[in-house]
Amino acid sequence: VTAKPGDIDSAVGKAAIDRAAGVLRGGGLVAFPTETVYGLGANAADGAAVARVFQAKGRPPSHPLIVHLADAEQLGDWADDVPAAARLLAERFWPGPLTLVLRRGRRVPLETTGGLETVAVRVPAHPVALALLSAFGGGIAAPSANRFGSVSPTTAGHVRAELGAAVDVVLDGGPCQVGVESTIVDATGEALSILRPGGVTREDLQAALGRPLAVPSTSPVRVPGQHPSHYAPRARVVLVEPEQVIAEAERAQNSGHQVGALLSPAFADAEVKAHAVVAVPASMPAYARELYAFLRELDQRGCDLIVASLPPEAGLGLAIANRLRRAAGPRPAA
Ligand code: TXA
Ligand code: MG
Repeated sequence: VTAKPGDIDSAVGKAAIDRAAGVLRGGGLVAFPTETVYGLGANAADGAAVARVFQAKGRPPSHPLIVHLADAEQLGDWADDVPAAARLLAERFWPGPLTLVLRRGRRVPLETTGGLETVAVRVPAHPVALALLSAFGGGIAAPSANRFGSVSPTTAGHVRAELGAAVDVVLDGGPCQVGVESTIVDATGEALSILRPGGVTREDLQAALGRPLAVPSTSPVRVPGQHPSHYAPRARVVLVEPEQVIAEAERAQNSGHQVGALLSPAFADAEVKAHAVVAVPASMPAYARELYAFLRELDQRGCDLIVASLPPEAGLGLAIANRLRRAAGPRPAA
């Protein structure tokens, strides 16, 4: 393997893909683009390689990873007893931003599933991810390529800035098109439920299934990796009603904070006395695509407090609101 630590391949050609697949075979770590966010990948069948992912992220080993596959035909290698409803969703939404939690196949290392008897799988809709998966041939276990608890990366530059030399190769596929992580559906029981809202909307899932799907409440910690404070920038995040963002931002700025304000479209043209102001897009897909870059930008511009409001919780607004709530959630003591 000739890859140097932290290499970025900006023109991802066949040679770069083959080299990255070789790194995975050798037990190394490859950061790669998906349509949602960048993933930090390792051979999902190699417990030692997977352990390196946890180390690089600073993630507790009890937090399960998502296994990425080239196509739904490989499902049988990773999951047992796939229910008909899960097959239907896979057929309808793969490749795409949907993750299915299923019963773990016997060969799946417990390192990959964080010790659980279930496994999360998805087929990503990104040409570089799919090329890497077919060149590699197996499953790639990949969490988002960020340090544990922080904002997911949506560009190769974000990955380099945050994980640097902990990654053997970074494949640069440009900015991610969806921008928030996949929707996670628990398909282990009779009644499917949404564990994490994401790139496939609840409405689209319900239409495909022909029945309603429950979404999680944000308060109790049910699943490992679903702590309230997650997807969080360095700056503290405060959520208020849309019409209160400007007043709250100015109040905090006047009391000595460096405030970043996320203005909803209705207030986009307002003059705001804050350190940094971002007007968020009115379209939910555009907002989702840029959400994490906005949060990173406000950190970079030196904000210590971000004042924002929640978008309407329909379509992709549900995932955006979920991430903002988690970013605003209680932080673990430093
Ligand atoms: O869009 C995405 O899903 C991105 C890209 C890279 O594919 N990946 C991602 O991975 O967001 P990560 O590790 O940051 O988030 C995975 C989530 C965690 O909240 C974890 O708890 C949950 O998936 N998860 C994984 N396996 C699970 C399982 N067996 N049961 C319940 N939740 C599971
Ligand atoms: Mg993550």
